[in-house]
Amino acid sequence: MLKLGVNIDHVTTLREARYRGQSEGEPCPIEAVRLTEAAGAHGITAHLREDRRHIQDRDIWAIRKAIKTRLNFEMANTGEMIDIATRLKPEAVCLVPEHRNEVTTEGGLDVANQIESIKATNETLRQVGIEVSLFIDPDPEQIEATAQSGSPVIELHTGAFAESYDNETNRSFEIERLIKASEQAHALGLIVNAGHGINYENVQSLFSIPHLNELNIGHSIICRAIAVGLSQATSEMLNKMAAYDTE
Ligand code: PXP
Repeated sequence: MLKLGVNIDHVTTLREARYRGQSEGEPCPIEAVRLTEAAGAHGITAHLREDRRHIQDRDIWAIRKAIKTRLNFEMANTGEMIDIATRLKPEAVCLVPEHRNEVTTEGGLDVANQIESIKATNETLRQVGIEVSLFIDPDPEQIEATAQSGSPVIELHTGAFAESYDNETNRSFEIERLIKASEQAHALGLIVNAGHGINYENVQSLFSIPHLNELNIGHSIICRAIAVGLSQATSEMLNKMAAYDTE
């Protein structure tokens, strides 16, 4: 079964737009955890950014306490975040690049150029029982580097696919890249997840990619929730994903 991880950063983006600097406010990310889990989500993803623009430190600890499924803690490969992760003990950490000026995570991690540092982080987190995944572009060099880094999981960046979706030629090209990337990663023994820019319309086009374990989806589910509520928005995505043929 193709699993769904719901990224709840966007819930706190909305809260921070009104309540930045205050110790509480709405909407509540814990309520989002409860509703998405009750609707069948397999995990929750949350990204504590260096600039704390959406998820705050208090949120991540409250999420850790409330969660019944799996916490996928997205973070930059920095000393501060490694320290938090080893104390937080999420089931998984997804290492992502972070640039202050980006609206959301824009490109994949350059694993090949920082392999020693990623190896060290992977080992530190592995020792406290955390599974590390690397968020990377569907690029053969980065996939090879991920396998060499000792990380057991990759999350393929589907942003370029999502952006090319309306142009058939570009879309086919991006899907082909993702298919090849997934095949290469699987052959190297990596678990393959995917995420970024996936929505209710484009998700079906990803079903030709083999070996997918989990999709991490945030923006489109939270947007749909405005119209139908978070429970139904989560169920609708899960219903679509049920058509994926896992081997
Ligand atoms: N996966 C990763 C690593 C991300 O950084 C993001 C965006 O925060 C997502 C998945 C979810 O992307 P979206 O919000 O576009 O669904």
